[in-house]
Amino acid sequence: MQQKFIIDGVKPLIGEIEVQTAKNAALPIIAACILTDEPVVIEKCPHLKDIDAMLDIMRHLGASVEFDGDNLTICCHDVALNVINSDLTGKLRSSIFILGSILSRCRHAYISHPGGCEIGLRPIDLHISGLKSLDVKIADDRGVICCDGTEMRAGMVNLDFASVGATENLMMAGALLDGETVIVNAAREPEIVDLAQFINAMGGRVSGAGGSVVRVIGVKKLHGCTYKPMPDRICAGTFLAAAAATGGSITVNGIIPEHIFGITERLKQTGAKLGFHRNSIRLLAAPRPRPIHKLETNVYPAFPTDMQPQLCAVLARAKGSSVVVENLFENRFGYTSELAKMGAAITVKDRVAVIHGVPQLYGATLRASDLRGGAALVVAALSAEGRSAVYGVEHIDRGYEYIERTLTELGASVRRADCGS
Ligand code: EPZ
Repeated sequence: MQQKFIIDGVKPLIGEIEVQTAKNAALPIIAACILTDEPVVIEKCPHLKDIDAMLDIMRHLGASVEFDGDNLTICCHDVALNVINSDLTGKLRSSIFILGSILSRCRHAYISHPGGCEIGLRPIDLHISGLKSLDVKIADDRGVICCDGTEMRAGMVNLDFASVGATENLMMAGALLDGETVIVNAAREPEIVDLAQFINAMGGRVSGAGGSVVRVIGVKKLHGCTYKPMPDRICAGTFLAAAAATGGSITVNGIIPEHIFGITERLKQTGAKLGFHRNSIRLLAAPRPRPIHKLETNVYPAFPTDMQPQLCAVLARAKGSSVVVENLFENRFGYTSELAKMGAAITVKDRVAVIHGVPQLYGATLRASDLRGGAALVVAALSAEGRSAVYGVEHIDRGYEYIERTLTELGASVRRADCGS
């Protein structure tokens, strides 16, 4: 049954929350479990649709998967299948980085093109060219990527773009290869560091993660382990943005401060006051946000693309105009047409949005069409006068664990309802 959120604004968010474990760290870590035939326990694994979709793929391959509360045990002892069809890959962009771990284990893999958010073409050429640099033979047979890794070997890979997923794929491809695989122009995101720490916890030898050159010295065998992935920097940023949008005052616990500096520096520019204390951050919003003259998304540690929609929802009510440049994805402003229904004044041309802040947004009937755009609609609805209905919450559930519960804890008026009601 399709569901919607009913949100009544404006209620300033007040209170304290604990941030969930990072979706974009947990997903590659789950894929990396294929690298060992021993049980792995992933602690505090978030309950998300994207995680469920990845676990469906793991079960399809023959892994045993079991949740005990928040702790997830995965055992890939019986993984033998190496074919993943589009029913499974279509739901999830992250399915593509299963490739590296399956090739490491089985040397052959047949995977349909991945799905993912409608925020751009989401090509996989960097994944393919990187694996080919390791002598994997790859052919595309009517949408199925057929990989023959019988002669794959460690080597040097130079990424044309610092792709997060391609870096993760190649780290997993090199983990069991005899010799050293060097990834040049690697992505530097914290999720890369977390994957490296996980592989090393299994007995791997990854170094340089977090920098532009990652080195993977292959080992003969990896063993099971227990691992708690990093906190979700984008979820933390999303709730901080919601507080900034509603004139609230919140504390987010369980963060790693340096992971969110790129986000908090921008929230400060909206006039919010922020203070870090160990693994917590406190935000006191300005009564009305200030505009940001120019906001650009870029790779870590710059302002992340996954926070662009949520911050634009804050800027929609700013006292002035902001220019936002989306450098990562070619189609990530789709949500602005929904914000316009609330009275927002945003002009979009290609990868640039000009936001003329308005004093007030008004409740409307809205439809989410991707994960972070959906989160932006929730942020806007919280800061709007009156009632909004946000349809398409299945997109939001991909990355936020019971978002309506967390927002309600902070004093928001949000409830989930069936679309028929
Ligand atoms: C990861 O996607 C994240 N997803 C995305 O988060 C995030 O927006 C993105 O990194 C950038 O930080 C996961 O980790 C599951 P990329 P990924 O490869 O790996 C181009 C969310 O909301 N590119 O770094 O797909 C691509 O088109 C999601 O949680 C190629 O051209 O991102 C894009 O312009 C959305 N060829 C840029 O690189 C390729 O082979 C960044 O992509 C791969 C990517």
